Amino acid sequence: MAKKKKPLVPPALQWTALGGLVFLAVGGWIWATQFGSADHIVNVTVPNLSAQARQGRQVFDANCAACHGPDAGGTPQGPPLIHKIYEPNHHADGSFLLAVRRGVRQHHWSFGNMPPQPQIERADLAAILSYVREVQRANGIF
Ligand code: HEC
Repeated sequence: MAKKKKPLVPPALQWTALGGLVFLAVGGWIWATQFGSADHIVNVTVPNLSAQARQGRQVFDANCAACHGPDAGGTPQGPPLIHKIYEPNHHADGSFLLAVRRGVRQHHWSFGNMPPQPQIERADLAAILSYVREVQRANGIF
């Protein structure tokens, strides 16, 4: 009578390997959801805006939202401005002026550089700032 063939990999080891695969899959999923590329996008609540902020929102939507997102919550092309990093103590209004005039070299994130936005007039910038600060305040940034 032929001897029963031994399995190439002992069953106990097969289970161990399966466990390892499940571990990797679950770990990978958690990693992707926690640290994946979209984790910077913020769910923004837009409050009742002042007249100046409403005007700023229009300028923002036309010139900044492509990268910074509708409601400044971020996109795959740029960071959210409704973020602790951009609270007034860390990024005062002057840093918005510089960003618009000179552009921004990549330093906080990994989206690349922000190109200058020379089409933005001073009055537009003041309106954008009202908008961003009002939304930041409504979202507990400061
Ligand atoms: C082409 C994409 C793009 C557009 C358009 C854009 N930004 Fe940016 N912006 C960026 C990126 C990317 C950064 C982050 C750079 C970093 O810190 O790594 C940034 C950073 C900033 C910062 C932070 C500056 C600092 O000192 O760190 C401000 C403020 C800002 N943007 C405002 C604006 C405003 C206002 C507009 C519209 C008038 C605008 N951005 C349009 C991509 C863009």
